[in-house]
Amino acid sequence: MTTKATIATIGQYVDQEVLIEGWLWNKRFSGKIGFLNLRDGTGFIQGVIAKQDVPEELFATAKGLTQETSIRVTGTVRAEERAASGYELNVTGVEVVAVTLDYPITPKEHGVDFLMDNRHLWIRSPRQRAILKIRAEIIRGMRDYLDNSGFTQIDPPILTPSSAEGTTNLFEIEYVNGEPAYLSQSGQLYMEAAALALGKVYSFGPTFRAEKSKTRKHMIEFWMIEPEMAYVTHAENMQIQEAFVKHIIRWVLEHCPQELKTLERDTEQLWKVVNEKFPVITYKEAVQILQDKGHDFPYGEDFGAPHETELTNHFDLPVFVEKWPADIKAFYMQPDPDDPTVVLGADLLAPEGYGEIIGGSQRIHDYDLLKSRYEEHELGESYNWYLDLRQYGTVPHSGFGIGLERTIAWICGIDHVRETIMMPRLLYRLYP
Ligand code: 4AD
Ligand code: MG
Repeated sequence: MTTKATIATIGQYVDQEVLIEGWLWNKRFSGKIGFLNLRDGTGFIQGVIAKQDVPEELFATAKGLTQETSIRVTGTVRAEERAASGYELNVTGVEVVAVTLDYPITPKEHGVDFLMDNRHLWIRSPRQRAILKIRAEIIRGMRDYLDNSGFTQIDPPILTPSSAEGTTNLFEIEYVNGEPAYLSQSGQLYMEAAALALGKVYSFGPTFRAEKSKTRKHMIEFWMIEPEMAYVTHAENMQIQEAFVKHIIRWVLEHCPQELKTLERDTEQLWKVVNEKFPVITYKEAVQILQDKGHDFPYGEDFGAPHETELTNHFDLPVFVEKWPADIKAFYMQPDPDDPTVVLGADLLAPEGYGEIIGGSQRIHDYDLLKSRYEEHELGESYNWYLDLRQYGTVPHSGFGIGLERTIAWICGIDHVRETIMMPRLLYRLYP
C-alpha cells in the first residue's frame, strides 16, 4: 500500500510513492503536460502529470479537475530545487472525493469586502494559511518563553462585574440574574491577585473592547497575553518584555521560514530586532522628537498612528516609551517617585509603522495611594477585593499585556489585523 504523507513532511519520501489527501488549489495544462497545485492543509506542492506516462483516463481526469475539488493523489516525490517547497510530485493517480464547482475565490484579484464575506473559504489560500500558521507559532513561542521562565498560566474570568481599563469601551451584557456584567477588557486586576499567590503568572485569552474605532489595528475581540510578576520593578518589567519579544521573533524565524517566504516578509528587519537593544525614551523625549520633526504635538496627549510611526522610524527598532503623564494612563499605574505627575509605565511601539503592541507598568502597591486613586476615579465597591491585595502582603509588582493580533500583523508584515485571526470581530462586522 502507498504511504500516506503530508506536504509538510514530504521531504522524507524522496523517490517513494506517497498518497496525499487534499484539494486542488490551482492547475495549469499546456498540451501534453499538466501542473496540479495541490494543498493538504500542511502546505502546497506542485504535482506534475505527463500525458505520455499515464493512462489516458487519468490524464483526462486531472485535466478536468476544478478548483477546490477534494482529491486523493498518489505520486512519486522528487526533489526539485526550483519549487517553492523544494519538492514536486510525479502524479500516478488521482481519486476524486467530491467535485467542487464555481469556487468563489478564483486566482484573480478580489476586493477585501468580498474576501471578508468569504472568510470561511479565504483561509484556504496560501497567504491566509501562512498567517494562521505563524499565529499558532507565535503563541507557541510565547508559551515557550513564559513556561520556561518560571511563569504559571492562570485563567482570569471573561465575565466580570466591573471595568479594568476604563469605562469608555466596555462591553455590557446581561448576567443571568438580570444584573449588568461586562466582557473582560483585560485580566490584569485578577492577575495581580494571582501574582501575589504564585509569583510569576500569565494569562492568555480573548479580551473585548467595544471601541467605535475602525482603524487597521482595532478589533472588538482580540487575544492578549498578560504576564504579572511580584517583586518586579518597572525597569525589570521592560527587560523581560524585550527578552520575550526577541524570543518570539527568533521562534518564528526558526519555525516558519516557508510561511515568511509566502508572505514575502523582509526577515532582515526581524533579525535586526533580535540582535539589537531596544531604545527606551521618556514620553517627554518622544514629544520633543515629534516637535523637532515638525509635528504640532502638545505635551499631555496620547499618540496617534502617525506619531507612533514617526517615533519608530526614528530608531527603526521597537521603542519603549516610558513615564507617561498620569492623567492619560490607567488608575493603577505607580507614580514616578522623582516626578509624580508621570507613571512608571511604558508602551512598546513596534517598528515599520506598526505602533503599540504592549502596554505595561509597575502597579501602585501602597494602600492609601491606591485608595485615593479609587476615589478620584469613582471606581466604586466592585474593586474592594483589589484593594485588599494592598492590605495583605503587598509588594512592588509589575506586568504587561501584549496584543496578539497586532504582534502577528507586525511579524507577518501585513497591513491590517483583520487577517491575523480566523474570524475577526471588527467594528460593523460580526460575520461570518
Ligand atoms: O494597552 P492596553 O489597553 O493595556 C492593558 O489592557 C493592560 N491592562 C495590560 C497589562 O498591563 N496587563 O492593551 C494591551 C495591548 C495593547 O498594547 C495592544 O497590543 C492590544 O492590547 N490592544 C488591542 N489589540 C487589538 N484591538 C484593540 N482594540 C486593542 N486594544 C488593545
Ligand atoms: Mg495601551
